[in-house]
Amino acid sequence: MAYRIAVIPGDGTGPEVVREGLKVLAAASRAYGFHCELINYDLGGERYLKTGEVLPPSVLDELRKVDAIYLGAVGHPMVPPGIIERGLLLTLRFELGQYVNLRPVKLYPGVECPIKGKEPKDVDFVVVRENNEGLYTGAGGVLRKGTPEEVATQISVNTRPGVERCIRYAFEFTRRRARKRTVKIDSTDLVSVAGGSPGQVVEFVHRERGKMLGKLLSRDSAAAEFETTGCLTMCGKTNVLTFEQDLWWRAFNEVGAADFPEVFRDYAHVDATCMWMVKNPEFFDVIVTNNMFGDIITDLGAMIQGGLGVAAGGNINPGGVSMFEPMGGSAPKYAGKNAINPIAAIAAVGMMLDVLGEHKAAAAVDAAIAATTPKMKSMAAGKMGYSTTEVGDLAASAVS
Ligand code: IPM
Ligand code: MN
Repeated sequence: MAYRIAVIPGDGTGPEVVREGLKVLAAASRAYGFHCELINYDLGGERYLKTGEVLPPSVLDELRKVDAIYLGAVGHPMVPPGIIERGLLLTLRFELGQYVNLRPVKLYPGVECPIKGKEPKDVDFVVVRENNEGLYTGAGGVLRKGTPEEVATQISVNTRPGVERCIRYAFEFTRRRARKRTVKIDSTDLVSVAGGSPGQVVEFVHRERGKMLGKLLSRDSAAAEFETTGCLTMCGKTNVLTFEQDLWWRAFNEVGAADFPEVFRDYAHVDATCMWMVKNPEFFDVIVTNNMFGDIITDLGAMIQGGLGVAAGGNINPGGVSMFEPMGGSAPKYAGKNAINPIAAIAAVGMMLDVLGEHKAAAAVDAAIAATTPKMKSMAAGKMGYSTTEVGDLAASAVS
């Protein structure tokens, strides 16, 4: 196979981490027999300062035609906040219909977790963040600006098709991940269990969530235990955002009941989600949430997986062009010092390969990261015990 990949190294440390990601991509393509044609784009703060251009229409048209986009970082200390973020990052997400922002929260071996006593097996979940709607559309406005009676509104836009496609993606992802889970349901929540003895797959009805499927493990008067394939948590705020979250809640349950009865449906308010992420991260398998909540909880996720040097994300259009990026920003302070951690950028390459369909190569990149992190002293820039290029070399040589 041959893929055309647009590479946007961007600003600050972006080019340094992208270089290491591409090293690992080259190693993976040699080992797994595919070819990547790389097309470089100098978009970002530098270009804006020189030419005033953020994303010329002709460039956007070219980007519509590639197989994937690999982005380093955007954000420049000399450019006022918002110009590049909205003009480039958010425009690409919207224009290319990248309606899911996929953010794995995975603690690699040897990485220090700020939560006492947590190990890699405890921190391994994925956030599916809606990426095209919510508070990010720019709907709203300002009245009487600058007066004592100024009014500002920012409208959260939620469409049924927009919410439903994101939720459907999350269910499919959870099913594919196929993590077996045991769930215990109190008899007060269990409406019925349709026949079956322990060991059989049965249909059961949960008081709030409706019909679901699972292997019956045990049942007594107090509770029943089922083994389900995966658990999808909707992270919301149904108690306050009664319009948009009601739409989310109905879509979540309707899609789940109709097409994914074997996936256990779980719910947590966004504030409680933050609490559980710190207290019991092992509780989560896949989380689906709106754009703003997803933005916030994934920074918390990045911290519990060892920091922004490790966290990667994919802006996904399952039928179109997806874009992959390390979550850390352009970190101008470290630019040009060969000190920034490239692991997140390498993980973004792994995600890109997975979405392109190169599943074995993606797994190999993940394994290479897991072989590299135990050798590093820290995930923090300048404290890794290695330079940026050395970490890239270690990871590239571990791809097999
Ligand atoms: C992210 C970033 C962006 C967002 C910013 C840079 C617009 O924080 O990718 O999470 O809010 O989505
Ligand atoms: Mn963010």
